[in-house]
Amino acid sequence: MIVKSVKRSRIESVDFDNLSFGSTFSDHMFVCDYANGKWGEPQIIPYAPIQLDPSASALHYGQAVFEGMKAYKDDQNDVWLFRPDQNIKRLNKSAERLAIPQFSEELFLKGLSRLIDLDRNWVQSGLGNSLYVRPFMFASEACVQASPSREYRIMIICTPVSSYYNDNQVRVKIADHYSRAPQGGTGYAKAAGNYAGQFYPTQLALEEGYQQIIWTDAATHQYIEEAGTMNLFFRIGDTLITAPTSDSILDGITRKSIIQLAKDRGLQVETRQLAVSELIEAAKNNMLKEIFGSGTAVVVLPIHGFGYKGDEYQLPINEDSVAQMLKSDLTSIQYNQSPDPHGWRVKV
Ligand code: COI
Repeated sequence: MIVKSVKRSRIESVDFDNLSFGSTFSDHMFVCDYANGKWGEPQIIPYAPIQLDPSASALHYGQAVFEGMKAYKDDQNDVWLFRPDQNIKRLNKSAERLAIPQFSEELFLKGLSRLIDLDRNWVQSGLGNSLYVRPFMFASEACVQASPSREYRIMIICTPVSSYYNDNQVRVKIADHYSRAPQGGTGYAKAAGNYAGQFYPTQLALEEGYQQIIWTDAATHQYIEEAGTMNLFFRIGDTLITAPTSDSILDGITRKSIIQLAKDRGLQVETRQLAVSELIEAAKNNMLKEIFGSGTAVVVLPIHGFGYKGDEYQLPINEDSVAQMLKSDLTSIQYNQSPDPHGWRVKV
């Protein structure tokens, strides 16, 4: 691996108290190119714009996938990653779906660790602060043929973050017209286009006063899927319900960690399809206690209300919120404040 570090860090120019999610980048980035049927030598170099041919396939056909993960700093100034093996496995799974060649898990984890180590000052301590890490792969061949590219690039960039949403009253709209992902589509992959396709319907929802859309199955709009930047959990009575992963739902790493932590606490967790009608029924009978999202960027995000076909539903204020409890269990592990019984933490 070739490593070229910056002569002078830009960190002093950063106002860490006023970060806007994902718009300030650390000093270095990881880059590796694929050509002639193989990946070349990985490099870590100063963060900078890249040169891309205007005909690069990713720009035309969206042959691109990405990941999201975070590095955390504990009270002893040690830096930790959370289940990074799961991110490279999922990146390769997404890559396969988009006909992008696989990248070595070992090289990824080595490169990631070296990059975070170089930029460790960018990981701010304090619960809620982290360095958001964005690995991505895209088709870079200069060619507008609508077929898989013969050249690719994988990169990892890092951005210091605090919270994802500034609003503390998150309302969501349950989709009854637009769809995120059909059966047999790319919904389970972190394909760039899955996100682009949500922007317009989400803009419309924002104009109606919602921050996000709860996507329903594309065929019937009857079953809850995910929210696009997060998986979803519903507490009905004392049972936590989340949709099973499928062709159209992202296999969230935070999602599966939350399921495990809930089980560790002895909570009843059901991984099953949840019909919108069941949700509405539970809301009307006061059995719907909580809804929350889970994801790397949002961590655990309580949802305060939702809209469906013109009707508005408000969630009760919970003193004993399961979302808060599970968020605290999760972040205590991530920030090295509690034992790590499942071996999820990896020291940088
Ligand atoms: C993440 O949680 O890392 C995501 O992928 C959501 C992202 C679109 C901000």
